[in-house]
Order: sequence, then structure tokens, then C-alpha cells
Amino acid sequence: MAETAEASQDRLTVTDSRTGRSYELPIVDGAIRTLDLRQIKVDPDDFGMMAYDPAFQNTASCRSKITYIDGDLGILRYRGYPIEELAESKSFLEISYLLLNGELPTPAALEQWTAEITNHTFIHESIKHFIDGFHHDAHPMGMLVSAVAALSTFYPEAKQIRDPATRHRQIVRLIAKMPTLAAFAYRHAMGLYYAYPDDDLSYAGNFLNMMWRATELKYQPNPVLENALNVLLVLHADHEQNCSTSTMRLVGSSDADPYTAMSAACAALYGPLHGGANEQVLRMLQAIGSVQNIPDYIRRVKAGEFRLMGFGHRVYKNFDPRAQLIKKVADQVFEVTGRSPLLDIALEVERIALADEYFIDHKLYPNVDFYSGIIYLAMGIPVEMFPVLFAIGRTPGWLAHWEEGLLDPEQKIGRPRQLYVGPETRHLD
Ligand code: CMC
Repeated sequence: MAETAEASQDRLTVTDSRTGRSYELPIVDGAIRTLDLRQIKVDPDDFGMMAYDPAFQNTASCRSKITYIDGDLGILRYRGYPIEELAESKSFLEISYLLLNGELPTPAALEQWTAEITNHTFIHESIKHFIDGFHHDAHPMGMLVSAVAALSTFYPEAKQIRDPATRHRQIVRLIAKMPTLAAFAYRHAMGLYYAYPDDDLSYAGNFLNMMWRATELKYQPNPVLENALNVLLVLHADHEQNCSTSTMRLVGSSDADPYTAMSAACAALYGPLHGGANEQVLRMLQAIGSVQNIPDYIRRVKAGEFRLMGFGHRVYKNFDPRAQLIKKVADQVFEVTGRSPLLDIALEVERIALADEYFIDHKLYPNVDFYSGIIYLAMGIPVEMFPVLFAIGRTPGWLAHWEEGLLDPEQKIGRPRQLYVGPETRHLD
């Protein structure tokens, strides 16, 4: 149960040196409400104290029951379950259900949930024509952002965001259609025919089917690669208030429909500092080219020329638990696909960086994207598709946060303040 300001005995005492007055601010769940700062004024006409927090490094924008992270201890839990327990034993659809509903599904609920999702994997044929309109070398993430937004025009009922049944239908559609949109974007870029979903396959297996099916009547995914993809999707499924999820909540707070909000979340994910990082890691490893070049590359990173992609995290300052789980999956994948020469470069980059004072002092460790790209590449997935795979995985997390925000009586349209530092009033001559 959430603590209330009235019930809490804890107070933060603030003394304003400008006036000498003291204020008692209630502490609830370890935080003060920044609106309580407004009472701190120099005189009655004063607007009141604001908190300045560029990049929201120390500002909680919501209460959430979905995901818990302790960055110092390297802990990640979905709805209370440690990621280590979930990643190796649960399917992506079970995890999606957990994130959205708060509990793992019973066998009967899972059967129904799976049936609902598989029932919605196809996309309207007009979407194919829409995708056809893109240039052959269009980035698949650009196609995805546009195609997700375009879905809103096919389901105008999605605007009824206050109706639980309508919300549920759009959630099912988005989880079901994301792999189809992603695979179609890839096949368009390759000039290949669009391979339709196969509802007999698992969520991950069907995605591989839509990516790779050629002339065979029935595509059989390799079970190791299917499992690896499932684990990667589970590890990406949610990560609380990151850039794209905060975007989803912010756009959702204006009562936009979920397709529009999720296309904005995809756009936020596209950036190289967020979901685009896995693509950049691969490009970096390719640019390094060989193990001998690593020391010079690290020297240039330390000189501030560029960042070591796949290293560092706003929240994890010890290790990223997802990166550790991914490493295990990588070994299984390489047994099937053969060892990638880029892996040797990656391992050496990791070894050198982890022993280097700069990275130790700055608490920079490999993050989830450091290994995911190498696995995807070994599986034959082109580099441009890496952020798209991240987007498929993050979809249930985005939707769980979108819905949690809508149902939160405290949610209002998001509208940060600013500190105006421009010119005072001035006049034309
Ligand atoms: N390489 C070299 N130096 C770095 C790096 C890096 N990857 N990341 C941070 N630093 C340094 C930075 O230069 C700064 O140094 P100083 O204090 O001396 O000026 C210090 O560490 C703090 O950096 P910051 O930018 O203030 O840290 P942040 O919390 O704002 O940034 C980050 C987090 C993930 C954006 C950043 O670490 C980064 O750019 N990493 C590379 C991109 C990347 O791998 N992104 C994927 C993140 S995980 C998946 C996801 O959530 O999307």
C-alpha cells in the first residue's frame, strides 16, 4: 500500500536563508513532493520554489508497480520476480502478461492470451502497400515508427482510451503486430516477398519464420536460436522510466491513442544513446577491426573523442544484470552459428575497459546492448534491425506503463516547467 502524506511522520526541514523561515515537507516513500516547495516564497507575489532537474536524474514522475531496479546492486525485477528467474524459464508472452496484469498467467489464461495474440498477428494488406512506398534503403526503424503510427488510422476506436475492453484490444494488436511490421520492413529492404505469420509457432519462432522463410511450406526455427531470441525479448521487455517509456507515458498523458503514443516511444528508442546503441556497438566493433587496434581506440574514448558504445548506464553503476544473462545465451548461439570474429574484439574491449581506471572511476560497465548486437549478428540479423528487435521486446513494457498511467488518478497531462534565462522584456526601436 502506498503511504500517504498525512500518515507519514517523516519530515524534511528546509530553511530558506533568504527569509530565515523554515518549512516542514512530508516525506513519503523516501521522496518529497516538489509541489510542496511552492510554499517557499520570498514574498507573497513570488511564484514559489521550483526544482531544477535537467534530464530528470533525480525526479520520480510517477508511482509504478511494474519494474524495480536497484542500479547499485544490479537488481532488476518484473512485478517482484528477479529477472534471472524469469529469463530462463518463461516465454515472452508469459512475461508480457505478467507486466500487463501483475501476475503470471495460469495455464488456462496463457492459452487464452496466446490465442488472442496469434489471432491478431496479420496486418491489413494496405499496410504492405504503405511499406512498399519506402525507398529500398530506408532504415527499418524509420519504417517501424511510421507504420506503428499508421496503425492508428486503421483502428480509430483506439481513441476510446477510457474503455478497458477497447484498451485491451489495442494492446493485443500491438504486441501481435509488432513482429509482423518489423519482419515486413526487413523483407521490403531485401526486396523479398512478405512472409505471413505462422500461428503454430511461438512468438519468437514466428518472427524468425517471417524473417527467413524462403520456399519451404513450413518453416522450422532452430530451437537454440528461437530460445535465444525469446530470452533477448524477455530481457528487453521493461526497464521502468527510461527515455522511450517516459515518452510513452508523456504522450499517453495527453490522451493520445496507444498507436500514436507507441510510435513516439519507438522514435525515442531509435536514438543511439538508447535502443540504437546495439547498432552502434556493432559499427564500433567493425570500425575497431582487430584486437590490436583496441588500445588506441580506448585511448581515443578516454580523450573524449567518442564514447565506448554498449558501456555505461544511467541507472546501473555496478553491472547490468541483463548483460550477464545475455553472455550465457551468446555461448549457446555461437555453438550453433560458429564464433563471430567480432566476439573476440568485444571480449577484449570488455577486458581492457574493465581493468582501466577511467572506466572504473566512471563506473562504466557493459550494458545490455553490448552483447545483444553480437548475438543478433551471429543469427544473421542485419545491423539496422537491432533497434527494431529492441522495440518488439519493449512493447509490453511500454503498454503496461501507458495503461498504468491512464489508470493513475494522479496522472495529468505531462508538462514540465522551465527556468527562463532569456532576455528581460525589450522593445523594438
Ligand atoms: N564511454 C566513455 N565515457 C562515458 C561513457 C561511455 N560509454 N558513458 C559515460 N561516460 C562518461 C562521460 O563522458 C562522463 O564523464 P565526465 O564525468 O568525466 O564528463 C561520465 O561518464 C558520466 O556520463 P553521463 O553522460 O553524464 O552519464 P549518463 O548517465 O547521462 O549516460 C548513457 C548514460 C547510457 C547515455 C551513457 O553511459 C552512454 O552514452 N553510453 C553509450 C551508449 C549506450 O551504450 N547506450 C545504451 C544504454 S543501455 C540500453 C538502453 O537503456 O537503451
